[in-house]
Amino acid sequence: MSKRAEPGKILYTQAYDYILDRIRRGDWKAHDKLPSVRALAGELQLHRLTVFRAYRLLKEHGIVYVKEKSGYYVSEGTPYEEPAGAGGYASAAAPRHEAGRLQNALSEVHRIPADYSFSQALIDPNLLPNLFLSDHVKQVFDRYPKLLGTYSSVQGDEELRELLSADLQRKNKLQVSPDELLITTGGQQAIDLLAGVYLRPMDHVLVERPTYSSALDCFRQRGARLLPVEIRRDGYDLDVVEAYLKRHKPRMFYMNPTFHNPTGYTVPAVQRKQLVELAERYGCLIVEDDAVHDVYFVQPPPPPLYAYDTEGWVVYLRSFSKYLAPGLRICAVAARTAAMAPLLTAKSLADNGTPLVNQKLFQHCFESVRLQLHLEKLRTALQIRRDVMEQALASGTGWQWFRPQGGLNLWVHLPDGLNANRLLTESIRRGLTFVPGTICDPMGEMNDQIRLSYSFMNEARIQEGVHLLVRLAEELVQSE
Ligand SMILES: Cc1ncc(COP(=O)(O)O)c(C=O)c1O
Repeated sequence: MSKRAEPGKILYTQAYDYILDRIRRGDWKAHDKLPSVRALAGELQLHRLTVFRAYRLLKEHGIVYVKEKSGYYVSEGTPYEEPAGAGGYASAAAPRHEAGRLQNALSEVHRIPADYSFSQALIDPNLLPNLFLSDHVKQVFDRYPKLLGTYSSVQGDEELRELLSADLQRKNKLQVSPDELLITTGGQQAIDLLAGVYLRPMDHVLVERPTYSSALDCFRQRGARLLPVEIRRDGYDLDVVEAYLKRHKPRMFYMNPTFHNPTGYTVPAVQRKQLVELAERYGCLIVEDDAVHDVYFVQPPPPPLYAYDTEGWVVYLRSFSKYLAPGLRICAVAARTAAMAPLLTAKSLADNGTPLVNQKLFQHCFESVRLQLHLEKLRTALQIRRDVMEQALASGTGWQWFRPQGGLNLWVHLPDGLNANRLLTESIRRGLTFVPGTICDPMGEMNDQIRLSYSFMNEARIQEGVHLLVRLAEELVQSE
């Protein structure tokens, strides 16, 4: 028989995995009555027959039993999986590759060659202290002559973790010991590892609407179901967040609360504390992705949610790709012991540790006095580029955007009648790219919004590119 499963089979084994996982996590205990076929089918949005087949298989496996005219009940002695963080990775028996589709929509946009690349939320290499960095390379190799011949530990170089732990405490009020830090190869790897550790097919994940699309693709690939929560200038509607937590028991809330990608919004301090309380109350892991914390223009953002977390419900990702040597791909993941243990296993399975050379080069740049100077210059340069982009957009009619106080992007509402994907097709023909709202939206809508990054090109190119975009948009509107 072919190994390829027919669609119906995928769904009923997914429903099976879903029920089993919830039993293992203790949501349904021995002799608890399980939801009726009809109720579960409604909740999972599946056909009743699919849920019925899942229950039947669970019964055959002795995981549930039936009481005549009453329904399904959890059997005694079903293996209990420890709560979030304690060993989830090892028990991933589900056929997860069948559940998700492998894609990275953002990466596909980035691969399109362009003269004017507004899709890259990357720092222009000209804004980095290149000469200084290359001088450093030599010094680091002089200091560690055996660097190329040495593995890093899985968790990351100890000196680097000590340095980052002290820095996070001093600058961001984060109580994080070197043992609570893991060095990953960029923020993207951290998201992928967390998805692997925590998510099973059919699990719910709370995500912002819109959000960083490569995270969405990671979650989809694991077969997770996305619960979109709108992010606004003033944060989230916490009643909506709580209703989702109560009803769907999501495994994870992936958020990017500081100079959010793509909108530029920052969740206010007061909500940060409340969100941590909600996560604790409902047992939902918050993954706080903080890639541009230090790229602010006027004043530093509020402390991360991680600063309010005492019970270990927040895992904090601080990538340094966005302001210092993106080529080194260094991200620090802060997590308490229960979450750190399975992450370390996942990291060891992925690559056994981020290359030591990258970590040592990063460490020596990071601790240099020159870094502070670089950061200050970078903030000014990016602020100027943001202003130039805004001025150029103002030359068109009907364009609206939020003015970010940090980060790398403008989230732009297109003039009436324009469709982001249609505009992108035309723009690509003229050598210009941006990120269409549809790929940032977990629901695949937002076709009237786009993300324009002002970080990658210099002022003159930004001005030319935006003027070209405005012209293209006008031509499109006229031609329809
Ligand atoms: C919100 C967010 N998270 C993670 C990443 C990935 O970071 P890295 O380049 O460190 O993998 C990005 C990069 O664009 C990002 O914007």
